[in-house]
Amino acid sequence: MTTPAPALAAHDLRHAFGTTPVLHGVSLAVRPGEVVAVTGPSGSGKSTLLHLLGGLDTPQAGEVWWAGERVDTLGTQARAVRRAGRIGLVFQHHYLLEDLSVLQNVLVPALLTGQDGADRARELLARVGLAGREGDLPGVLSGGERQRVAVARALAVRPAAVLADEPTGSLDRANAEVVAGLLLDLAREEDAGVLLVTHDERLAARADRALHLLDGRILEAEAVR
Ligand SMILES: Nc1ncnc2c1ncn2[C@@H]1O[C@H](COP(=O)(O)OP(=O)(O)O)[C@@H](O)[C@H]1O
Ligand SMILES: [Mg+2]
Repeated sequence: MTTPAPALAAHDLRHAFGTTPVLHGVSLAVRPGEVVAVTGPSGSGKSTLLHLLGGLDTPQAGEVWWAGERVDTLGTQARAVRRAGRIGLVFQHHYLLEDLSVLQNVLVPALLTGQDGADRARELLARVGLAGREGDLPGVLSGGERQRVAVARALAVRPAAVLADEPTGSLDRANAEVVAGLLLDLAREEDAGVLLVTHDERLAARADRALHLLDGRILEAEAVR
C-alpha cells in the first residue's frame, strides 16, 4: 500500500515584505483527516503562512503542495481553479457575498469548478443547522450563523484541505464552540486536512497536533492528542 499524499504540504517556505523577513524556512505537512493547529504571537507570520499555503500569495522561495501537486509554480489563474476544487478557506470575517442567498454563497466554489453542487450544499447547510435558511440573505443572519455558512462553503467541493485563520475570532464563546465543532467534525468525517490558525487554546487543544510559529520558524510539533 502506498501512503496517500499529504492533503497540504510546504517545503522551506521563505517570505519577506520589503526588507522585513517574515518566514525563514517553514516546512509542514497535513495528512488527510488530520487537524493541525498553528499558534504564535501576533505578527509572527501565521496569516502570511496561511495565505501562502492557500496560494493567495506566492512565496519568495520554497514549495506549496496540495494533494500531491505542486502549486506555487502555477500561474494565478490555474492556481485559482485548483484552489476552488481542492482548498476550503475560512477567515475571521465570513466574506459572504451579501447580495447572494445563503445557498448561492455555498454554491460559489462548485460554480467555479463546474460542478452541480446543489444537493451537497443543501446537505451541508442542514448539517450546520441552517436547514430552511437557504433563501435568506447573509445580512439577516447572526454572526455565528454567517460563520456556519462560511464553514459549509469551505467544505462544499470536498476539498483536500481546509485553511482556517482565526475562524472563531469574532464570535462569543458559545458560538465559537459550535462553529469550531462543526468545522472539525465535518473535515474529519470527509478526510479533509485542516490547518487551523488560532489564539484560542481551547480550540488548539481540539487539534491532533499543534505547531508554534515564532520568529518566522516552526518551533516544534507538539502532540496534543
Ligand atoms: N501585505 C503586507 N505588507 C507588509 N507587511 C505585511 C503584510 N502582511 C503582513 N505583514 C507583516 O508581516 C508580519 C507577519 O504578519 P501576519 O502574517 O499577519 O502575522 P500574524 O497573522 O501571526 O499576526 C507582520 O510584521 C506584518 O506587519
Ligand atoms: Mg493573523
